[in-house]
Amino acid sequence: MKPTPIKKEIVDTLIESLGIKDFAKATIREVKQVAAKAEKESGVEYIKMEMGIPGLPAAKVGVDAQIKALQDGIAHSYPDIQGYPELKKQASRFVKAFINVDIASEGCVPVCGSMQGTFASFLTCSQATKGKDTVLFIDPGFPVQKMQLQVQGVKYETFDVYDFRGDKLGAKLESYLSTGKICAIVYSNPNNPAWICMTEQELQTIGTLATKYDAIVMEDLAYFAMDFRQDLSTPFQAPYQPTVAHYTDNYMLLISGSKAFSYAGERIGVVCISDKLFHRHFPDLANRYEGLPFGLVFSTRMLYALSSGTSHSAQYALAALFRAACDGEYRFRDDIKVYGERAHKLKEIFCRHNFYIVYDKDLDKPIADGFYFTIGYPGMTSGELARELMYYGVSAICLITTGSHQEGLRVCTSFIEDHQYDQLEERMAIFAENNPR
Ligand SMILES: Cc1ncc(COP(=O)(O)O)c(C=O)c1O
Repeated sequence: MKPTPIKKEIVDTLIESLGIKDFAKATIREVKQVAAKAEKESGVEYIKMEMGIPGLPAAKVGVDAQIKALQDGIAHSYPDIQGYPELKKQASRFVKAFINVDIASEGCVPVCGSMQGTFASFLTCSQATKGKDTVLFIDPGFPVQKMQLQVQGVKYETFDVYDFRGDKLGAKLESYLSTGKICAIVYSNPNNPAWICMTEQELQTIGTLATKYDAIVMEDLAYFAMDFRQDLSTPFQAPYQPTVAHYTDNYMLLISGSKAFSYAGERIGVVCISDKLFHRHFPDLANRYEGLPFGLVFSTRMLYALSSGTSHSAQYALAALFRAACDGEYRFRDDIKVYGERAHKLKEIFCRHNFYIVYDKDLDKPIADGFYFTIGYPGMTSGELARELMYYGVSAICLITTGSHQEGLRVCTSFIEDHQYDQLEERMAIFAENNPR
C-alpha cells in the first residue's frame, strides 16, 4: 500500500466527530465540511466536486442591465405579481427561439429561482384535483425538491430511471399513473446528477401518458441547452432544447438563470406554463381560490403568498439576457461549455484508473459531457468509494442521496481548476494501485 495523500486518521476522526454514521448518506454540506477541515489539517488541497454551484462569473449582459435598473430607481417599487412585462415578453421569445414552443407571455412567470418555481408548482399541482395527491419523480434527481414536498406534507413516489430507459419507460410510468393518484411528474433534463438526457421517444412517452392520465409534467430545465453534444444555442434555428411540450399540453417548463447564465446568487428564473394549462379551470382549485384558473392560482395565490413576486432588478437582468440571446448578440453556450470540457478531461482520468461511468448512455449513445457525471469503482459501494476518495483529497456525494439505486458518486465539474487535472491524475494513479480490481 502506498501512503494516501491525506492520512486516513484525519478523515476518519473528522467523520466521527461530525457524527456521520453512514458516509453514503452524508449530505453535500457534511461532505464539504469534512473536506474543508481535512484540507486545513493536512495542508493538502482537496479537489472539490460535491457542490453544484456555478463556478463562472455571472453573465455581464445581466449584471449591466441589473445595475442600470437599480440606478434608475427600480428598487423602491414592488414588482408586478405576474412579472415585469418585458421579462415575460422576452421569456416567451426565448422559449420560441431555443425550444421551438409557443407560450404566451402571460404564461411566463418570474420566480425566485427554479427552487421557488418547483415549490409553487408543487402547491398548485397537488391542490388541483382531490385524490391526485402524489408527485412522481423520474429519478435520480435534485434532493431538495423532495424536501420541498416534505415541508408541504405532499406525498411522492420515485423510481430510478436507470433500468427503465427507452421502451421500458412507458410501462413503468403507467404503473404509477394508473393508480389515479399522480398529480405531477418531475424530472430534470439534462439530468442532475446523472447527466442523462431524455430522448425524443422518451419525452413522447412521458407527454402522451401525462395527457392520458391527466398529470402535469414539471420539466426542470435547470441545465438549459447544456447537452453539449449538439449546439442548441442558435436562436430560432434547429436543433432545439428537447422538451415534453411537443407531446402534451399539461406542462410547466422551469427555466433557471442559475447555470445557463451563472446567475444563481440573484435567485431568478421563469416558470413557463402552457397556454391550455394556464387557462384551465380545475374545480378544486377554483373552489379554494375564488374561481381562478391554474395559471392565476400559481401567480396570484402561491407566489404572492410566498414572496409577493420576484426581485425587481433581477427580472431586468434576466429580461436583458433573454433578449440578447434571442437577438443572437449573446451566445450563452460559449460561456458555459467549459463545464463540458472539464467533464471530458475528468472522465478520461477516472476511467483510465479503473473507474467507470455509472449512468453512461442515453440508450445507444454515450452521455454528454456537462456539469455533472457519475462514477463507480469495481467492488466498492457508494459509501466505501466516497470515504476512500476523501483519503485522496477528492470529495463527492453518493448517488443514494439523489434517489438513485446505483452504487456510485456524483461528480460536479463546476469548481475544477486547471492545475487540478495533474493532481487528480497523480492521486488516482495511487488510488488504482492501492485498490486493485
Ligand atoms: C435539477 C435542478 N433544479 C433546480 C435547481 C435550482 O435552480 P435555481 O438556482 O434556479 O433555484 C438546481 C440547482 O442546482 C438543479 O440542479
